[in-house]
Amino acid sequence: MVATAIVALSIYLIYGFAGALETYLGSHMKIRASPDTIVHILKLISLAALAYLVVRAFRVLIFGLVFRLRSGYEAPTLVRNIFSIVAFTALFFIIFSQLFPAVNLGALFTTSAIFGVILGLALQDTLGNFFSGISLHADRPFQVGDVITVGQQKHTGVVESISWRAIKIRTFQNHVVLVSNSSAAKEAIEVCPRNNLNARLVYFSALYTDSPAKTIHVVREAVREAENVSQKITPIVRIRNLGESGVEYEVKYWLEDYARYNDTDALVRQRIWYAFRRAKLTFCFPTRTIELERKLRKPPGEPDSSALIERLSAVDIFAPLTVEETTTLAQAAVRHVFAQGEMVIRAGDAGSSMFVLHNGRVRVQVTENGIPRTVAVLNEGDFFGEMALFTGEPRTAHVVALEETEVLEIGHEAMKKLFDTNPDLVESLSHIIAERRQALAQRAEARTGPTDESEGLIAAIKRFFRLS
Ligand code: CMP
Repeated sequence: MVATAIVALSIYLIYGFAGALETYLGSHMKIRASPDTIVHILKLISLAALAYLVVRAFRVLIFGLVFRLRSGYEAPTLVRNIFSIVAFTALFFIIFSQLFPAVNLGALFTTSAIFGVILGLALQDTLGNFFSGISLHADRPFQVGDVITVGQQKHTGVVESISWRAIKIRTFQNHVVLVSNSSAAKEAIEVCPRNNLNARLVYFSALYTDSPAKTIHVVREAVREAENVSQKITPIVRIRNLGESGVEYEVKYWLEDYARYNDTDALVRQRIWYAFRRAKLTFCFPTRTIELERKLRKPPGEPDSSALIERLSAVDIFAPLTVEETTTLAQAAVRHVFAQGEMVIRAGDAGSSMFVLHNGRVRVQVTENGIPRTVAVLNEGDFFGEMALFTGEPRTAHVVALEETEVLEIGHEAMKKLFDTNPDLVESLSHIIAERRQALAQRAEARTGPTDESEGLIAAIKRFFRLS
């Protein structure tokens, strides 16, 4: 507004006092140009400034309001800039030809070879960028928000803007990289569109002694549920090489949001590590594992058997067991580690073992009307998975690790031995199962009395374990 007022005022003054100004310049100035030409130049400058402001106002009006209202999205900066340049040049030509009818501006431009060469050389890069920018906008090989790899240094990042001069990308280190349009137009650009299922490859190696079928199955199951891994396509795990130290595999998975591929790659590797640990698979590495060392020393992080015995004897239902029985149970227990968010038990699966929580926490979760609901949170020393083990029915709920969690798995055989020598164990277990069942039944709004339930359960457990 202020600029417009100033320009309008100067036009008014120049036009209003043109005669006086000419007379003044004629009597006081000792320059070769005629006073009339100087006044015309002043008029040209002020009218050009006015033309510039008018073009800007039209640009706001057309692209800010009309274009956005009609097409629902903002016009690209490049289109707006082209409009400004073309409109201003046209207005400037009109004003110039009105003020200086004797000068043929078009002929001046077209016939002046020197001017053309100078202008061409000076604007070589700028024009290159400009026209490459136009072709980028016309082709639309990528859009704002896509991840691209571009430039000689292979910069990868999310596209933030495409201007008449350069493509601006934000790298995954949060740096801003500007790649000029002309250099981008000359090079291959790798585009990972935002609304496309883009894939990633993650590599790992296993020992030759580990079965490939088992390794592939274990890794595929571990990766498919990781966050940001698309559920639409199952990840592919395959052998890429029979390497020097082991079998080399690759995992191909598809991402929901490609811009977060670094985090997702890391999560996939983490899931592979935990899955390997549980399935007793071994990563290969050039430094050979010496068997002798493994026998003499327990592997780092492995609890010694006294810790397991201590843990099991602290579990309520195992309290009545003798030291020998608890020791036998600890020897039969198999230790597993789960990452945060991993499923220890899946509802509906068949189950032939129960678990004691050694370290960490788990959530018992059921699905009500398609929405996951937490029924209970279990802590160190609690146990779970007993319902399917003792009744032979499918697992009643999901059990999911809330943090890195270590569990001790106790199988059917080990429990049967205990039942033979501890008949009371059946009863105490049946009470707990009955309570948990009732809690589940209450959620499903079916009311069942706990006493009858537990009596029925004792019979069911005895039947299932073939106890007299
Ligand atoms: P299971 O049915 O074998 O597998 C899921 C386990 O979740 C189940 O055994 C129980 O151990 C546990 N569970 C089910 N309901 C409850 C509950 N209400 N409170 C605590 N644990 C439960």
